[in-house]
Amino acid sequence: MTPKTFKIKSFGCQMNVYDGERMAELLGQQGMVAAPDGNDADLVVLNTCHIREKAAEKAYSDVGRLKRDDGSRPLIALAGCVAQAEGAEARRRSAMIDIVVGPQAYHRLPEMIAETTRGARPVDTDLAPLTKFDAFPQRRRANPSAFLTVQEGCDKFCTYCVVPYTRGAEISRPSADILAEAEALVDGGAREIVLLGQNVNAWRDGEHGLADLIRALAAMSGLERIRYTTSHPVNMSDELIAAHGEVDKLMPYLHLPVQSGSNRILKAMNRSHTAESYLATIAKMRAARPDIAISGDFIVGFPGESDEDFEATLRIVDEVGYASAYSFKYSPRPGTPAAAMEDQIAPAIMHDRLQRLQERINAHQLAFNQSKVGADTQVLIERKGKHEGQMVGRSPWLQSVHLETDAAPGEIVDVTLIAAGPNSMTGAVRAKAAA
Ligand code: SAH
Ligand code: SF4
Ligand code: F3S
Repeated sequence: MTPKTFKIKSFGCQMNVYDGERMAELLGQQGMVAAPDGNDADLVVLNTCHIREKAAEKAYSDVGRLKRDDGSRPLIALAGCVAQAEGAEARRRSAMIDIVVGPQAYHRLPEMIAETTRGARPVDTDLAPLTKFDAFPQRRRANPSAFLTVQEGCDKFCTYCVVPYTRGAEISRPSADILAEAEALVDGGAREIVLLGQNVNAWRDGEHGLADLIRALAAMSGLERIRYTTSHPVNMSDELIAAHGEVDKLMPYLHLPVQSGSNRILKAMNRSHTAESYLATIAKMRAARPDIAISGDFIVGFPGESDEDFEATLRIVDEVGYASAYSFKYSPRPGTPAAAMEDQIAPAIMHDRLQRLQERINAHQLAFNQSKVGADTQVLIERKGKHEGQMVGRSPWLQSVHLETDAAPGEIVDVTLIAAGPNSMTGAVRAKAAA
């Protein structure tokens, strides 16, 4: 039977969120409608992440839970990075999976659904770059802050990471396509665009780099804010740093993962930067844009990580003074070089290190938020808050800001930040900003 309703559940990074939106648009074009509840939907797409062990396990258990009380189940498509990594194996692990479709092949989803009605269980993990973008319908509706994938894949091959295998080689979308999609997003209601890529600052179109793309977007009327994520330290060009000092619409926020503060571990990770070169990049960025909020990613317990190595990580956290950061226990991924390294770290040590790192990060996060109390700034309203009359938006530094206002999602309001918590701010409206 051809499905009429669908539900897409996306896990993992923002690129998966973007892919999920495009899949929804594609299925919508086929006349299917979104179902409010996953188990009632005729088709469920699990758009998975493979970055750490638990995420993949979670996807399989989610498949199992799609069985309904009466024994029936929806048509199930496994999409995303677990689908790419597992391929046909995913169907062997779960007989409930009807379709396996990788992150570069999901434009074929409608075709694959049709194949299932003829009794097939199709698998497509082709990594043909960019062809999917040509198959998507034009974008019509967008959130106030909209994602736009401009670059995909990764050639960096950090020794712990699956992304180069699940997303394929580093490729950039042409600038004209990106600008056209940005126009459509702004027409559809976006005020902010977040440019996405696994190595977004490696984006290129001929002579042009990400800084040029940002400058071109900044000229677009109706678009008020530009962000980009995730960047790799080695691709942080002087042009991009300069843009932070010159382009008003480019928000003062940079997600620049360092992973470890120890050069020995960074080398074993194949990160191709050192603690010193990373700190030099941050210093240049702060010279260009003094108020920039720096965010990062960390891995604790990489094979061979000693107490001294870990202390170096705590030191770099203090030296940078992160406004926010994500930290993870090292998770051995099948097929990656680090998984075969000797000296894997015991779970109890990893646990302890993660605890200590997160305490340190949280302290810096709170300090950053407190440093903004009293600041007059602007908030882009994104959604309703928990309480009546409360709305939630983002400051330029990507802080969540709770405030009382009758402004609607998509409006930008002048706000004084009046209180700081570890994960969010409270704001008081001064006046609605002139559009
Ligand atoms: N392209 C980005 C992010 C990739 S994945 C970058 O280069 O930084 C997001 C984060 O997941 C990484 O920054 C890293 O901190 C974490 N990560 C990736 N592989 C991991 C693994 N095997 N175990 C634990 N954390 C991992
Ligand atoms: Fe993974 Fe490293 Fe590529 Fe980031 S740069 S996606 S961590 S291989
Ligand atoms: Fe996960 Fe794939 Fe993104 S592994 S982090 S969903 S690129």
